[in-house]
Amino acid sequence: MRVLARCVHGTEWATAAEVEAALPASDVVLGRREVAFTLPGPDPALTALRRADDAFVVAGEVPAADPTRAGLAPLAAAVAALDWPAVLAAVTALHPVPRSAVFDCVASIEGRRSHNRFAAEDAVGAALAPVLGMRFASRSGAGAAATDLTVRLFLRPGSAVAAVRVGARPLHRRPWKRDTGPGTLHPPLAAVMAALAGVGDGAAVLDPFCGDGTLAVEAALCGARVAAADLDPDRVAATLANAGRAGATLDARVADAAHLDGLDAADVLLTNPPWSRAVAPGGLLSASPAAYWAAAAGVLRGRACVVTDADLDLPDLLRRAGWGIGLATRLRLAGRVAHVTLAAPPGAPVPGLPDPLARWRERALAAGVVTADGF
Ligand SMILES: C[S@@+](CC[C@H](N)C(=O)[O-])C[C@H]1O[C@@H](n2cnc3c(N)ncnc32)[C@H](O)[C@@H]1O
Repeated sequence: MRVLARCVHGTEWATAAEVEAALPASDVVLGRREVAFTLPGPDPALTALRRADDAFVVAGEVPAADPTRAGLAPLAAAVAALDWPAVLAAVTALHPVPRSAVFDCVASIEGRRSHNRFAAEDAVGAALAPVLGMRFASRSGAGAAATDLTVRLFLRPGSAVAAVRVGARPLHRRPWKRDTGPGTLHPPLAAVMAALAGVGDGAAVLDPFCGDGTLAVEAALCGARVAAADLDPDRVAATLANAGRAGATLDARVADAAHLDGLDAADVLLTNPPWSRAVAPGGLLSASPAAYWAAAAGVLRGRACVVTDADLDLPDLLRRAGWGIGLATRLRLAGRVAHVTLAAPPGAPVPGLPDPLARWRERALAAGVVTADGF
């Protein structure tokens, strides 16, 4: 069966490395925001991918030549004629789908079309309902209905790919992440950052700006010993609640990051500092957030993996302060460009990417999916 894993643009290579490690995947093809691959059959590891935003079993690809409303009926008929029993058999092996199931259809459009995505979703959803033997819930009316299954439609300039989500919910929606506040991080990116920093069993990881604990929990789930802190007691409480639901053991407390407690003992500083968009720096860092990095340079002995708004240009700030940069890459996050930086303080060895990631990054660069600085 063919699978399409979707991910944050700029992290395709990190997602491919996870697919290769977790699944018996063949014919892996990298594209913008996606990794396509073939599996011998449904595999529960698919629903446990952490770096992908979501994953879908592909039903097939059909021509989508007419980009006007007149093209919708032929498109719906072609999609309905695909091998849906095979796709349903694969998906129901991965998560239970009740007899009286309700499905929705989510379309995305690349290129120019004279109809919106809801028109495509409704046309395909209506044609698929009798084929799937399920009730179609349109997303164009008021209020989204709870559904058991999602059909995904990727409308591209010359073709349309139809697929079904491998789980009942998108992979990026972690069941444990229920306590959230402003500026909280996208969990798949947290998982990618933990991988870039080589976080594994027993590593000592520190997140001094932990917010709701996304990085801390993802690192703890990799087997790391995690210490987390935040100035805001509500965010520390959120971290502990989220970690508890995830079954992750970590230490979290209220502290001002300016005190640099624990930095000298950290193998990895894994963090997402405030960048004055959703959250402003507070406490001792309100006047000069950059002062944190100057102070950290003298204390940290391990490596840092940090996500920041691209406007802050953290890689340049660190470079000028003598840090060794192992990777500085841009990616698109919630409509903004962010930097992910892997670096070590002056005097420490410059950190490289762990091998499978370095190899997949080379492939993504060669395929033109990413550029040396991201995209
Ligand atoms: C971008 S958020 C981190 C979000 C987090 N990665 C998550 O997934 O929820 C930045 C955090 O830094 C905290 N913060 C701001 N100034 C701080 C300081 N001086 N010391 C420690 N934490 C601070 C804020 O309370 C906020 O929770």
